[in-house]
Amino acid sequence: MKREFLITGDGSLTIHLPEWNEQYHSKHGALAEAQHVFIESGLHHFIGKENPKTVSILEIGFGTGLNAFLTLLFCSDRNIDITYTGVEAYPVMADEIEKLNYAQLTEVSATLFKDLHNTPWEVPAEITNSFQLTKQKKFFSEINNEEEFDIIYFDAFGPRVQPDLWTEEIFSKMYSALKPGGVLVTYSAKGSVRRAMQAMGFTVERLPGPPGKREMLRGSKIP
Ligand SMILES: C[S@@+](CC[C@H](N)C(=O)[O-])C[C@H]1O[C@@H](n2cnc3c(N)ncnc32)[C@H](O)[C@@H]1O
Repeated sequence: MKREFLITGDGSLTIHLPEWNEQYHSKHGALAEAQHVFIESGLHHFIGKENPKTVSILEIGFGTGLNAFLTLLFCSDRNIDITYTGVEAYPVMADEIEKLNYAQLTEVSATLFKDLHNTPWEVPAEITNSFQLTKQKKFFSEINNEEEFDIIYFDAFGPRVQPDLWTEEIFSKMYSALKPGGVLVTYSAKGSVRRAMQAMGFTVERLPGPPGKREMLRGSKIP
């Protein structure tokens, strides 16, 4: 499929798929969306609620590594250890990674961002003292974890282009993979997505969305 770079509303780049008219992040701001949906409404919320020393995160769609990068930065001065698992069936190519401007925009050494991508797949890698990353190259349908994760960043392509990834079957896997007390956050606020999450056991909140979107969803696995 053809792939192009797009400058989003906050100056951060994303990858655009013209055949689907879909991109890896919001056109209104890739960084702003990731920060609002995953870091603030997911990670920051969970830390405020549980005050944990360690947090385990599953990302659905590792893609460009932006969410992993922002997570690493968020926790670097907070004395919290992160174990991060990024699942991705179609890894972004090295020459595309080179072009992304997330390190420049966050004023962090580009080496850290590249480290996320240069580590091998399937094995845990210590990116920093407090951030361990395991990238798994597989399909979301192959996820069969049981009560392993505190947070799920659900960042698949939208239900318009990949409806099979927003089904009760997938959300049932997500619910099983979460520990009791865990949360799943996603940028989608679609009614059918909310209902599929609720049917699989999630308690779902509609929250204010990132720039350009009215709402987003957060599902909790109430113990
Ligand atoms: C919206 S993009 C991810 C954005 C990513 N979180 C980021 O920050 O760049 C969705 C990702 O899911 C991956 N993907 C699509 N279908 C998949 C599937 N069935 N199983 C695993 N990965 C899939 C795509 O390759 C893409 O990287």
